[in-house]
Order: sequence, then C-alpha cells, then structure tokens
Amino acid sequence: MSSNSAALTGKPQTLRTNWRGRWAMLQFPFSRIAPIERWMRQEGDIATAPAFGLKFYFLNNPEMIEECLVSRHRDFHKDPFYGFLALILGNGLLTSEEDFHLRQRRMIQPAFHKQRVHGYGEAMVHYAEEMGARWRDGQQVDMNEEMMALALSIVGKTLFNSDVTDKTEEVAHALETILPMVSWYEAPFGPQLMKLPLPPMKRFRKAIAGLDTLLYGMIAEHKASGDQGDLLSMLLAAKDEDDQSVMSDKQVRDEAVTLFLAGHETTAIALTWTWYCLSQHPEVEARLVAELNDVLGDRPPTPDDYPRLQYTRQVFAETMRIFPPAYMIGRSAIRDTQIGGYEIPKDAVVVLSPYITQRSERFWPDPERFDPDRFAPGESEKRHKFTYFPFGGGRRLCIGEPFAWMEGVLVLATLARHWTAQVDPGHKIAYNPHVTLRPVGGMPMTLKRRA
Ligand code: HEM
Repeated sequence: MSSNSAALTGKPQTLRTNWRGRWAMLQFPFSRIAPIERWMRQEGDIATAPAFGLKFYFLNNPEMIEECLVSRHRDFHKDPFYGFLALILGNGLLTSEEDFHLRQRRMIQPAFHKQRVHGYGEAMVHYAEEMGARWRDGQQVDMNEEMMALALSIVGKTLFNSDVTDKTEEVAHALETILPMVSWYEAPFGPQLMKLPLPPMKRFRKAIAGLDTLLYGMIAEHKASGDQGDLLSMLLAAKDEDDQSVMSDKQVRDEAVTLFLAGHETTAIALTWTWYCLSQHPEVEARLVAELNDVLGDRPPTPDDYPRLQYTRQVFAETMRIFPPAYMIGRSAIRDTQIGGYEIPKDAVVVLSPYITQRSERFWPDPERFDPDRFAPGESEKRHKFTYFPFGGGRRLCIGEPFAWMEGVLVLATLARHWTAQVDPGHKIAYNPHVTLRPVGGMPMTLKRRA
C-alpha cells in the first residue's frame, strides 16, 4: 500500500498522479472498471489521475467515502457524466440538485415508506408467479431478459398502475440503444457530438422518444381517470408548499422516467447475477431452498414473510457485494474541499466504487468467495457502514432501496421454490459495464423444475 493511505492531519496534502493511474484511466473507455480496480489495489485509500480534461480522485476507504457522501456532501454535486443521464431523465430525482432535488425528494418519499412498499409486495409475487407459470422444464432462457421483463412489469404496476407487460420488448430495445451511448458522451467533445445528426444520435433520440410516448401515455391515462392511489397520481396531485403550483407534465415525465428506469434496470441486474451465483454454488442454493420450504411450505410468499426470509436476503446481499449493479458513484467538487486530509480542488471528480471497495481484501476476507453468511444477523455491525454501499449513502441514498430489497427477496422466494437454472455450458461470463453492471451477451440459462 502506498503512502497515500496514511492518516493525515493539519494542512491538506496534495496527492500526486503516477503512471499507473494515467494508464488505468487511458484504458477506461475500453475496459472500464477492471484496470482501475488493479490500480487501486496498489494505491490504498485514495489515488488521483487526470482524464477527459478533468482531475479524478478514487476513494477506497470507508471513512473517506462517508466524508464524501455524508459529512461533506454540500461540497459536491453529481459528476459531469450525469449530464448523459440528464439527456434521458431530464431534471428528475437522480439528476437534480440542491433545493429543487430536496423538494422533489420530499414529495416522492411517501411512495417508498415501509407500508407502501409492503403493499407493493403482492404485485411482486403476482408477476413472479406469472413468469414461473410460463417457464417450462428444460427451457433455455436469457435470464437477464427475463428479469428485466419481470422488474419492468413490477415497476409499471406498482408505481404507475399500468400493465406494461406487452411493452417490455420495446423498452428493452430502447435501453439497449440508449445505455451504450455513454461511450460517445465520454469521448472528446462528447456532449457536442451528441447534438449532431449522426445515425447513432438519431437512433438515441428515437429511443428516448419511444420511452416518452409510453410515459406521456400513462400520464394522459391518469389525468383522464383521476386518482388511482399510485405514485403517478401522487406526482400529478402534488403541490408546491410555497406557491401551490402543480408539476408541469414535463416535470412529472422526468420523475416518472427516472423511477421507471432506475426502478427496474438495477434490480433486474441484481436478480440476474443472483441466479448466476446460485448456479455456481449448489450448497448455497440448497440452504436457500431449505429456508423456503421451512418458511413457506407449499404456498407462495406474501409480503409478511419478508422478515423471516433471512437467508434469501443474505443471498441477494452477497450477490450485490460481488456484482453491485451501480458499480461507480461519482461526484464533482463544487468548491475547493478536502477528504481524508487530502485537498480536492474545485471541479475535480471524486469516484466511489462499490465494486472496488466491496471486493477489496482490506475489508472483506477472501473477497472473491461467495458467502451469504457474511450478512448473517449481527455480521454487518462488525464492519464500517461504507464497506458495503450498493445503494450509495447520505442525502442521495437510493430512494428505492426498501423496494429493491422487497422485490429481490420476494421474486427469489417465489421462483426459486420451483425452479433452478444452470448457465449454458460454453457461455463465457463477462461484463462490460456502461451505466450499470450488465452481463455481456445476457445470461443464457437452462431452467429445471425442482422435484
Ligand atoms: C438493486 C437495486 C438498486 C440499486 C443497486 C440501486 C442503486 C442506487 C444508487 C447507488 C443510487 C445513488 C446514486 C448516487 O448517489 O449518485 C441510487 C439512487 C436512486 N435510485 Fe436506486 N438502486 C436500486 C433500485 C432502485 C429502485 C427499485 C428504484 C425506484 C423504484 C430506484 C430509484 C432511485 C432514485 C430515484 C435514485 C436517486 C435518489 C436521489 O438522488 O434522491 N432505485 N440507486
């Protein structure tokens, strides 16, 4: 470990770049996280390198991560690459800042209160059961596509009271066009390039227009039919505390598209990797099934079972340790500041990576080993909170975290009761993360019904 990891006091220290950092950042557009992980293993807590005309600081120390997300959060905004997401999401919860973000967060938060999420649980089980009823013994599926379709139906129903099952292919296709475009955005003059009438940009805009048609359709339906007791009705009815104004259709669209995308892509990826991990660890799968038999017997789960499905939750948690869907979280310093005693100049980008920290042997013994017992009751309290942060932290903590846990646990409990899945022999597991940690070539698996 380099001297970068020394605990420092007094005047902030200036970090220096080394050739390893420059090399890792040069590879970023092609290989993304892997070279940075190798570099950070050598550097320790914090390291810096220039790229894309910006100064980057990578943190791999829980106290420093907490400083960035919690105690010094006022010194940071989202990083410049959120500009890419803003092209799709507009000024929604994920991309907005300061007072406006706070106001929107307050308005949307009630949709994610414990009781509301408990209420969504039934739809989660219902759609998972429907999927299980369609599956056939010996059938080959792309588990990533299956989980995307399932998560999309769940978000459509729970948040927008809309059955989008027949739209899932359209949305999946739109996302396949949209997300890889982040590589264009990161290229030199990327934001300017995105405005040119080149074929990929035209496809990009067409895909966003397709999503808009879906979302504005749901908004129009809701306006016509009145309060449906769902999130979209809440957004349409919400009034500004000060001037009593309602949100414009555009603002409702921005929040809706944010929740629609953020609410299904990440959970679906976490579930896909869970099926993969189970297929590689029959002993874990056997314990999972034993818990399901014990808690559920021969009935499907209900939201009330959630607290008792402890091992199921541990399996989902351990999967997100090794395969965190949001593998990097970035911030931009809006003024000169410091972290861990090191100076962070204005406009520098600070990157926290759940992928790197959660796979670091400094915090996780034998980090490559898949072991859900790391999350057995009492275990998490033994670690620093920010050695595990798949949902971020502080003010910008994922608003959908309780929703994602409920969905992960109930979907697994519903499907794994009857089904096991094996990765097709010959399929090489790889991920080429764009915005999220999607598996390359999907996850081809063969389904087997349990005896
Ligand atoms: C396994 C599933 C999920 C993972 C791993 C995940 C991860 C994250 C992370 C890391 C952030 C923080 C980003 C940052 O600080 O820059 C975030 C924010 C957010 N997530 Fe999630 N998320 C998941 C599921 C969901 C669900 C189910 C929803 C909605 C239904 C959702 C909606 C959001 C929104 C709106 C934000 C922005 C919150 C704000 O800034 O106030 N996410 N998510």
